[in-house]
Amino acid sequence: MKCVDDFRLKLGQHELVPIMIGGMGVDISTSALALEAARLGGVGHISDAMVTTISDRRYETRFVKDKLKQYKANVPNADKSAVKFDLGHIEEATRLHVSRTMEAKRGSGLVFINCMEKLTMNAPRETLKMRLTAALDAGIDGITLAAGLHLGSFGLIEDHPRFRDAKLGIIVSSLRALQLFLRKNGRTNRLPDYVVIEGPLAGGHLGFGMDWAQYDLATIVAEIRAWLAVEKLAIPLIPAGGIFTGSDATAFLEHGAGAVQVATRFTVTDECGLPEKVKQEYFKASEDDIEVNGISPTGYPMRMLKGSPGINAGTHPNCESFGYLLDANGKCAYIDAYNREVAAHPGEKKVVVRDKTCLCTHMRQFDIWTCGQYTYRLKDTTLKTADGSYQMLTAAQVFQDYQFSKDGKIALPA
Ligand SMILES: Cc1cc2nc3c(=O)[nH]c(=O)nc-3n(C[C@H](O)[C@H](O)[C@H](O)COP(=O)(O)O)c2cc1C
Repeated sequence: MKCVDDFRLKLGQHELVPIMIGGMGVDISTSALALEAARLGGVGHISDAMVTTISDRRYETRFVKDKLKQYKANVPNADKSAVKFDLGHIEEATRLHVSRTMEAKRGSGLVFINCMEKLTMNAPRETLKMRLTAALDAGIDGITLAAGLHLGSFGLIEDHPRFRDAKLGIIVSSLRALQLFLRKNGRTNRLPDYVVIEGPLAGGHLGFGMDWAQYDLATIVAEIRAWLAVEKLAIPLIPAGGIFTGSDATAFLEHGAGAVQVATRFTVTDECGLPEKVKQEYFKASEDDIEVNGISPTGYPMRMLKGSPGINAGTHPNCESFGYLLDANGKCAYIDAYNREVAAHPGEKKVVVRDKTCLCTHMRQFDIWTCGQYTYRLKDTTLKTADGSYQMLTAAQVFQDYQFSKDGKIALPA
């Protein structure tokens, strides 16, 4: 019987353990987590979601305060179109986050960055171009384009000296999304180095509608593999979403996948950026505690624990400090929802907004507990301690469990 370690992912001259830890914003997939994957010979991701916040927390910059200071007068204003990011700040924050991570890298694996197109930042093209360029400048091994179709993203960096040497990949949830990506980016004469196929059981935002339950990862992977074979395109495919055991991963590798991308099992490791208290919530969760809802202002369904404090909150929009989801016209669905509730409840100090959440604020505070569908199985991956809490794991334990386990088994910590 085979295990994951019997396979290798070839990316250029690299031969990797075929385990990729997926990007988890905002700093849930920390540098420390990504670096462990690289040390163990696989691929880890950092994320550039709210990178100025990450930089302030980790590298003692003051980007968020400075932005708020600049736009303070706009806070009571419903129109956020004037609230722009300073491209120099994005560049500096990305450079700090990436270069400090890459300096600490050990081992034969790679560290990539997850870049979500839906972080439109009130100037989608300019800010995305700066994020991608700064990450390449700072020496990232690769970029995974996420949360969006990225129809123009290769074009934004085609003149960069590292455009052909850095590893570039795209996350899709359907053959159609991949076809569109390849067609629209085709004029750059560069194929993606890998394609992550994210199915309906993943954490974070889903590339499906509320009918997500009707889709199945293995079916989508098979469909994409068949089409690539007809087109004579050899691009490693990396399934993601609900791959919970080494045996689940091995099954995909035996069917021709290049690697697997996994995330949920790493949410309960020391290296994961979630607060300890929240990690315990993930351990405790039962199947009934998990839902896919429409409260993300991005318009994508998102999976999370029903007990997330960011659900039904009435937070005043914080776009002057953050503003990552402001579209090209300075709009965000949460601002509209918030203003509607304020207008409907005149004189009330606190409103409740049920249909949307202020995702910037609550992801920053770890108050939206996004998670994969199999979060309710995390309790089976560890031991319960005398005080009733669950024993935290290390990233190496989880990584090596994926790498070596067989027979659907999960090795419990010693
Ligand atoms: C807590 C959490 C946060 C996530 N955040 C992101 C993100 O910021 N960008 C992204 O592309 N995917 C995100 N994902 C999806 C993962 O990168 C990954 O593809 C997926 O969750 C894999 O499925 P699994 O969690 O069942 O292993 C997130 C997943 C989790 C669990």
